[in-house]
Amino acid sequence: MEILQTAAELQARTEKWRQAGQRIGLVPTMGALHEGHLQLVRAAAQENDVVVVSIFVNPTQFNNADDFRLYPRVPDADAALLAPAGCTVLFLPSVEQMYPRPTVLTFDFGPLERVMEGAHRPGHFNGVATVVSKLFHLSRPHRAYFGQKDLQQVAIIRQLTADLSFDLDLVAFPTVREADGLAMSSRNRRLSPADRAMAPQLHQALVLGAAALAQGQPAEVAQAAAAQHLAASPGISLEYFEVVDAQTLQPVSGAVQAGQTVALCVAAQLGGVRLIDNLVVPA
Ligand code: PAF
Repeated sequence: MEILQTAAELQARTEKWRQAGQRIGLVPTMGALHEGHLQLVRAAAQENDVVVVSIFVNPTQFNNADDFRLYPRVPDADAALLAPAGCTVLFLPSVEQMYPRPTVLTFDFGPLERVMEGAHRPGHFNGVATVVSKLFHLSRPHRAYFGQKDLQQVAIIRQLTADLSFDLDLVAFPTVREADGLAMSSRNRRLSPADRAMAPQLHQALVLGAAALAQGQPAEVAQAAAAQHLAASPGISLEYFEVVDAQTLQPVSGAVQAGQTVALCVAAQLGGVRLIDNLVVPA
């Protein structure tokens, strides 16, 4: 595995691959890799000739300075995990490489970004769309891989890909969970032992909400039951619990219609660490 640090090197390398007819898989990450990321890399290695993994803690998608400062950064440990997973090139750029000048272009994804993460983290999806567009341009992948834990991010990147005619296939992978149900996340390593013990309650709340919907209860009842469960979980401060249409991400009210796929989505803080999770039903 080779490590490249400049945009020019990455562009030159991927251009050479393209000319040689090689299929390129891209796995964009912010590092502090876990099994969820590694499943994306292994899949990319199976489905493409070469795999680029980027690790870049993108400042423009953080709306909270502490969250950016404290985001885990362990590039050496990450590199050691990537080679055996099938990564060909690890792209590890500096902020100056990705943002040689401040960007002025802004994205507006309409209703898709007015809910949940977009509503609670102003500017977040503008930063995500900017950096993902840059990574797509620099590496020109045939396939790009993302995790479904960031359900709204996947929807936004799908829209970005369609609207800007990026010639690539998006591959979204199911959330990978710890044995106790906690969704794997780079931020989990920042949890105190007490908060780590409480964190699986987020998944429990999603399961509880999904069970209420399966019994024919209205979305509002499922939402209230889940919120009540989390309010009774010490150390968890709920930001939102939403039942949304899985395609449009707009809130659902009343009973779920036959044939409709919905997503239950949660965001909460535990000791200053912000976690998100979701469950799509039927899966
Ligand atoms: O999901 C992430 O890790 C980031 O939002 C991404 C897609 C790498 C963009 O910085």
